[in-house]
Amino acid sequence: MLASLLPLAGGLVALWALLSAAFAWGARRAQRLGELRACEAFRAAPRAGAGASRTRLAFLGDVQRGIADVLEPLRGALAESGADLLISSGDLISHGEAPYYGIALAAFERAGWTTPTRLVPGNHELWPRRSKDDRIGGALFEARFGARHWVARSGPVLIVGLDNGADWLADDQLPWLRAALAAAPTAPWILVCHRPLYPFDTDVRTPHADLAGLANALRPRPPLLVVSGHLHRYHDEVVDGVRHLVNAHGGDVHGLAIRRGDFQWVRVDVEGATCEVHVESLPRRRSSAAYIDQLAVRLWSDRRKPLGALLAWPARLVLRALGRDVPVVRYPEERRVPAREVLIARRAEAPSA
Ligand SMILES: [Fe+2]
Repeated sequence: MLASLLPLAGGLVALWALLSAAFAWGARRAQRLGELRACEAFRAAPRAGAGASRTRLAFLGDVQRGIADVLEPLRGALAESGADLLISSGDLISHGEAPYYGIALAAFERAGWTTPTRLVPGNHELWPRRSKDDRIGGALFEARFGARHWVARSGPVLIVGLDNGADWLADDQLPWLRAALAAAPTAPWILVCHRPLYPFDTDVRTPHADLAGLANALRPRPPLLVVSGHLHRYHDEVVDGVRHLVNAHGGDVHGLAIRRGDFQWVRVDVEGATCEVHVESLPRRRSSAAYIDQLAVRLWSDRRKPLGALLAWPARLVLRALGRDVPVVRYPEERRVPAREVLIARRAEAPSA
């Protein structure tokens, strides 16, 4: 009886060793991805100079895991349309941890990305998995992409990016916004922020409590457009004299990779003080390398769970003895967005990652 169980036990041990090696491979690859920096396109100036009377802008909504199949087709479409600047309205990255940033940065690098690109932080850039501490992803965002709010000039228009990815952060940026607009007193402008100012997935048209100050700040000098994402469907509506676009379907707005049809980007042509909006659809094109990166980071992340920790254990034991183990990174679990007072107190502290 015992002898007959030996092959089964041997097979299970071999399977455990194999899975453990896979976890070790994933952790090592994820660690390398976490060290990547953004390619030059994220720092390049928009192609239309400040003296140009027109510009062609491209907006990309929530991408997350769609990064594995949208960049190649989008690169071709942007080259064809002559886009001067691509702006992501946030949730380009799946989670606010270095390896997840690395998946996207590697994908842009492999795509040979050259279109000047900017992004505002979404909740997914700011929060690690199972945490609502925006200091962690916020520090990564700043290290990879620069300031969490910014202004760019493309031809006749100012594009202002604000960070409202985590709640209760917008009010602090209002003095900066007013100063940025005052520096270009006659330019038309476009606001980009991840969360829409209004709950467009309901019938209510009063702004979210933490964004009421921002909605008021638009009144003296209304923007041509407010572009956001975050909600799960496209929306285009004028509220209080301002046109709001919710540009969600850039790849994977649900974060579950369940939408497999075409993805969308929005082309905005600005001439003088007017703009035209065109919603464009593109078929996806799979990048095997990006899928492999996603698998590696998944394995890296799953080592935090009890089953993953158990499966990864044999190889970790060996690698630890060799001084080559990739440590497990854990953040305190935080299911709910903290109260405003907690966020304000946190911002006064040094980043925890
Ligand atoms: Fe979001």
